[in-house]
Amino acid sequence: MNIREHVEQYREAMTQWRHQIHSQPELGFKEFQTTKLVERELTAAGIELRQLDAETGVLGVLKGAKGPGPVIVLRADMDALPMDEETGVPYTSAVPGVMHACGHDGHTATLLGAAKALAALKDQLRGEVRFLFQPAEETLYGAKRMIEAGVLNDPPADYVMGLHGSPLANVGQVAVLRGPVMASADMFTATFTADGGHGAYPHRTRDPIVAAGFFITAVQEIVSRQVNTLDSAVVSICAVEAGTAFNIIPKKAVLKGTIRTLDKAVRSQMESRIREKVEGVAKTFGCGYELDFVDGIPSVGNDDEMVDRLYAAGAKVVGEDNVIDPIRPLMGSEDFAFYGEIVPQSLFFQLGFVEPGVEPIHLHNTKFNFNDGALVPGAAVFSQFVYDLLGSN
Ligand code: NI
Repeated sequence: MNIREHVEQYREAMTQWRHQIHSQPELGFKEFQTTKLVERELTAAGIELRQLDAETGVLGVLKGAKGPGPVIVLRADMDALPMDEETGVPYTSAVPGVMHACGHDGHTATLLGAAKALAALKDQLRGEVRFLFQPAEETLYGAKRMIEAGVLNDPPADYVMGLHGSPLANVGQVAVLRGPVMASADMFTATFTADGGHGAYPHRTRDPIVAAGFFITAVQEIVSRQVNTLDSAVVSICAVEAGTAFNIIPKKAVLKGTIRTLDKAVRSQMESRIREKVEGVAKTFGCGYELDFVDGIPSVGNDDEMVDRLYAAGAKVVGEDNVIDPIRPLMGSEDFAFYGEIVPQSLFFQLGFVEPGVEPIHLHNTKFNFNDGALVPGAAVFSQFVYDLLGSN
């Protein structure tokens, strides 16, 4: 069975779905039109829809005609971003202030193509393929919502797989790493408090701004001095709020930051160190403090055997040389991580969109547009992976 040739027949359809979704972008948990389009196309392909207790999102279920077998979940995200589009393409966003700047239109079209291709091969498959079109990846709550809605249950999923368009690889290539691929993301808000007072008489109060300044400096020491130099970690304080005038010492200074790590032990180490720093700095400067620490999302890691399977499948449909190792993980995050926490045999790979010789426009840029040339390679890799896993020969 030549899967690449088989998937080629959906090239035009995938391109049209992508353009249609692109022109009607929808924000997280508001993907109503996209949900409808996906449901319509899955139904037309004879794929059963499972009712989900969620505002948006689709789960298509394809049972192989060859009987029972493993369950694999293929996931795409559907949401757009709150930005004004400046691509100038004919199918540009018709919704002011909303655009597909992260290529989720392309992910959705890719998975729809794979769904159509695999539905046509149902007679040769055993087990079950679930096509999961997830809402709200950008806000990082969509995956949790889908898990709560039971997409990994009845029967439990054995494998889960997802992709993201990538500036790290050329169109026609896929990139995959062993081990950690994307970072965990936690957030904190640190507040230093005091009585407040006149700027000319600082001895009558304590100064939360001075405490905040020392805290900003102190956290730089965590990654540089306390985390093993061979591990990866980021702390960025990205918001600082304090004060109203040039001569009033305020009652509080508020700092907001993000923490990224690739390893569970480092992740908990970072949290402990941040707690120590806030407490220590507050004590040193005689201020009160509050720390609101939010466990965001875990890191995404790839199962070794899944990576081997991807290399094998990729070699068949895009060529051995086009399955590349991007060498380093990304410190960005993906809520795909939540599926991997439940289903250990998980895989997240990058779908190249760079045209050789052309400087790529990066994700979340107002001029970003998913490369249609990546649709067939993406759908073919998904399809071949499933065919190798559940195909009868
Ligand atoms: Ni994205």
